[in-house]
Amino acid sequence: MTKKFENNVLILFAHPALQKSRVNSRLIKYVRDIDGVTFHDLYEAYPDFHIQLRKEQSLLVNNDIIVFQHPLFWFSVPALLKEWMDLVLEHMWAYGKKGTALRGKKLLSVISTGGRESLFRREGFNRHTMGEFLSPVKTSARVCGMDYLPPFVVHGTHKVTKEEIDSHGDDYRKIIIALRDGKVDYEAARTFPRLNSDIEKIMKGQRK
Ligand SMILES: Cc1cc2nc3c(=O)[nH]c(=O)nc-3n(C[C@H](O)[C@H](O)[C@H](O)COP(=O)(O)O)c2cc1C
Repeated sequence: MTKKFENNVLILFAHPALQKSRVNSRLIKYVRDIDGVTFHDLYEAYPDFHIQLRKEQSLLVNNDIIVFQHPLFWFSVPALLKEWMDLVLEHMWAYGKKGTALRGKKLLSVISTGGRESLFRREGFNRHTMGEFLSPVKTSARVCGMDYLPPFVVHGTHKVTKEEIDSHGDDYRKIIIALRDGKVDYEAARTFPRLNSDIEKIMKGQRK
């Protein structure tokens, strides 16, 4: 099969109450229609949590860059995304001696948090950084041979204005298109705590 783009991107979206969402419902409008991007709403597909394992695995095989987009719930992923991880990332398929299906793919978390950025510090109210809270996802990715990118994070969702959400939406769209087209400088990206810290600086050819 010839590929139209350098990378196929799969967005696995997990929000259990989209009708109440202010941030994610707006962010997804910026990415769901991009050519070469498959947008997959897990709570829409599986309201009863009966995940179709083989279908999910074949989606993963056909994509190079996997995105987990979700609100932060109790410093973790929403329940259906955890269920998805428990079922889909099977032994001898995703990990283990013969589990090589995901090797070399990239994983990106796109996350919104009610808490503002200053809470996510060792000396802050939450006592841990976002990177520390995300270590179960990061380590799972590593066990599966995937490369985990710095997360794209929108903090302080209770106070964020519509205009700020739109600006995050613009950045999200630019980053997804750049990932699809192989235009992200991964080495530069790793020097930032978030993929959306300074998006111009992580685009190929932008480093001085
Ligand atoms: C069950 C639940 C758990 C939450 N846990 C956290 C949390 O651990 N840390 C945090 O900063 N925000 C937490 N929040 C706030 C959500 O992250 C926030 O409402 C969401 O990111 C807003 O996005 P939305 O407008 O798309 O719903 C929680 C919200 C709910 C409903």
